[in-house]
Amino acid sequence: MIPLAPYANQTDFGYSMQTTMLGNLAEHGWSQHNLFLSADLVLALAAECMAIQSIGGLKLAGVRHGKLHEVTTNIRGDQIDWLKTGQSLACDQYLEVMEALRLVLNQNLYLGLEEYESHFSFYAPGTSYIKHIDRFRDNDSRTISAVIYLNEDWLPEQGGALRLHLDGKCVEDISPLACRLVLFLSAEMAHEVLPATRNRLSIAGWFKRRT
Ligand code: OGA
Ligand code: MN
Repeated sequence: MIPLAPYANQTDFGYSMQTTMLGNLAEHGWSQHNLFLSADLVLALAAECMAIQSIGGLKLAGVRHGKLHEVTTNIRGDQIDWLKTGQSLACDQYLEVMEALRLVLNQNLYLGLEEYESHFSFYAPGTSYIKHIDRFRDNDSRTISAVIYLNEDWLPEQGGALRLHLDGKCVEDISPLACRLVLFLSAEMAHEVLPATRNRLSIAGWFKRRT
């Protein structure tokens, strides 16, 4: 087999990380992993997102109301570009890691996840995404949400946290620091993206089951 990419990474997550991930997802509905991807792969993904941004390749994200797709920047201010297999070595390697993760989730949590879809998200300073859940009203295929952050040296005072609303009363704020993965149950975990003082880059993705 030809090595896929020059970026150091692994599709074997290790016993302790898997145990933490599966336990937290099952017990709390979310899980966080700080060094999920290697720094060189994350740098390459960040550079690719900025290259797409610089040629005007990102599009304002929309919000779905039934069959209608509306751009509503008061709800979400991010600009996105869907990842496609074969678009770059870095994206292919990222998708390979997420495919390995899909298998681990299926083998242990019996979720019947069949597909993964993901997009780059670019939040310019001051933009945000109000409190929401990731499952659509007319389609319940999105089961596990997965967000990878691409921002080197992020400081908490720069804002931009992913805020999880854990049970209606408690919140958990997670800074969008490079290499960090956050997983949560798409249908249950209300969450929002707080505004930041610098560009905020991520890849947001969804493991989907057949409906
Ligand atoms: C989303 C989302 C979170 C983030 O795209 O639905 O909630 O931290 N993203 O980028
Ligand atoms: Mn979301």
